[in-house]
Amino acid sequence: MDKMGELRRTHYAEDTVKVPFGETVTVAGFVSRTRDLGNLIFTDLRDNTGVLQLAFDQDTDPEVFRKAEQLKSETVIMAKSVLRDRSSKNKDIPTGDIELFVTDLRILNAPTEMLPFEIRDEVPVRDELSLKYRYLELRKPSMTRNLVMRHKIVKCTRDYFDSQHFLEIETPMLIKSTPEGARDYIVPSRVQPGHFYALPQSPQIYKQILMVAGYDRYMQIVRCFRDEDLRADRQPEFTQIDLEMSFADVDDVIAVNEGFLKKLFHDILGKDIQTPFRRMTWNDAMAKYGSDKPDLRFGLEITDLSETVKGCGFGVFASTVENGGSVCAINAEGLAEKLTRKEIDKLVEFVKTYKAKGIAFTRINADGTSSSSYEKFLSEDEAKAVREKMEAEAGDVILIIAGDRMETLTALGALRCQIARNFGLIEKGRFELLWVTDFPLFEYSEEEDRWVAMHHPFTAPRDEDMDKIVSDPGSCYAKAYDIVINGTEAGGGSIRISNPNVQQQMFEALGFTDESARSRFGFLMDAYKYGAPPHGGLAYGLDRLVMLLLELDTIRDVIAFPKVQNAGEPMSGCPDFVDQKQLEELHIKLDLDEE
Ligand code: AMO
Repeated sequence: MDKMGELRRTHYAEDTVKVPFGETVTVAGFVSRTRDLGNLIFTDLRDNTGVLQLAFDQDTDPEVFRKAEQLKSETVIMAKSVLRDRSSKNKDIPTGDIELFVTDLRILNAPTEMLPFEIRDEVPVRDELSLKYRYLELRKPSMTRNLVMRHKIVKCTRDYFDSQHFLEIETPMLIKSTPEGARDYIVPSRVQPGHFYALPQSPQIYKQILMVAGYDRYMQIVRCFRDEDLRADRQPEFTQIDLEMSFADVDDVIAVNEGFLKKLFHDILGKDIQTPFRRMTWNDAMAKYGSDKPDLRFGLEITDLSETVKGCGFGVFASTVENGGSVCAINAEGLAEKLTRKEIDKLVEFVKTYKAKGIAFTRINADGTSSSSYEKFLSEDEAKAVREKMEAEAGDVILIIAGDRMETLTALGALRCQIARNFGLIEKGRFELLWVTDFPLFEYSEEEDRWVAMHHPFTAPRDEDMDKIVSDPGSCYAKAYDIVINGTEAGGGSIRISNPNVQQQMFEALGFTDESARSRFGFLMDAYKYGAPPHGGLAYGLDRLVMLLLELDTIRDVIAFPKVQNAGEPMSGCPDFVDQKQLEELHIKLDLDEE
């Protein structure tokens, strides 16, 4: 078989557009398709920059032509020759005006098996196949583009933080298990029987210790591991852009990060985003958008009707308010025609998954007539008051949910997103960034019957809440912030506690005994005894950031080898059994059910 011989690539496919006609170039890649017109053959060569047309002519070079006749999709080739003007131009690709009239063709390897699917973006492939043959999926131009963009985003990130005096410092992957948040992945120690490492859920404690050590601006692009259920924006193994800075308060962290995102959007997408970004407290975000990550690309804001319907003729509304619940609503402006009874029924089923009991609605038709599920129970004035409060006009639909305040807000928050998706209210190419600030310091875990840290146990309370950490945890708010892009939490962080006494109170509020706090976090508390600069930081989900910039629906499309629902990786087939010998070395005995 022909091999490369002395031939070496001189140009990538798309770079040939810069080469003058008549110059000799050598390209290398895969055959993406080939058309045999009898005495002429046209073949598209694909590399990870794009495609270039190769032309073969029987009359000019019969020997090369005979080789070209053997080409089929995905054959690995090299071709050398001069570039020339192309007779039938293709305006859809950058190299559409040129072609390589090939005089030297090397066939390096042809597929020996039928391809399980076509390597084309337009041809949908079942997930099982595309993940099992991930290397074929990754050959697709869309996947190549995603990974190239990811690379560019990583490079831009490193350049920016370097320019701001951040040092990239690696932290260990085998660490002490300090479960507080998701479940840890654990790794048994061979040398210390019965002892385990954990894989880091994030480098949180290490980066704080680096601040104590005087490395006052740290960053790392780092793999994190969390044994939690997979979702479109969640993988068990993912990457963070992790940051920490000393001598900084909330505004300092935010300013550095607005500079970063401004540069990223500019360099990667050519978009100018305005700084400073909008800021919204967690309380406002919940009240207006029913979410701590509001999507601001569309309206459908939530209005609290509790005062308006207090004591009204409709028992469901009146009793909800009387019992301390809330009646809240959104106005689906201009959607009267689209939100038919059937569509509303579908939305009722949807909100039930968010614990709402139902939706009460009023549809005001364009001609002023209306239909309503609750107005018949209200007096004319009461019905009018609701419409006025909702600023509802002809063509609008009022959608109301009554119940526990947080459940109602959360259900409406999900509902507004569902309506926006269903009825195309989200504009492509639009980016809405905002900071959500002042998160509650704690949330109550019914499951564990104790307060847990909403962000993590090292997050500082607001100054005004400092005295209430132990006495009234539920009323404390944190110096914590999330950066939200188009309704997704792209990153989150906080100012940390740098005072050992406050940290001790925090552990106390979380229900740790002195002993258990010492055994888990003693090394951090010890470090603080030797002088700790005030510090804070943030971590982005890199996969999410790439997904958002490329306007994709799942982070799986920006990860070369992602995990699937059961946390496995179908191409290699992990997780897998290991040899008995390996288990014995690790002092592990399996106790599996007969399955
Ligand atoms: P947090 O847990 O909020 O904070 O994580 C930071 C960001 O990481 C991303 N992320 C994920 N991405 C994909 N798959 C996952 N399973 C996953 N989990 C989280 C999100 C999230 O905003 N140490 C703190 C940060 C700090 O306080 O500085 C931390 O890890 O985009």
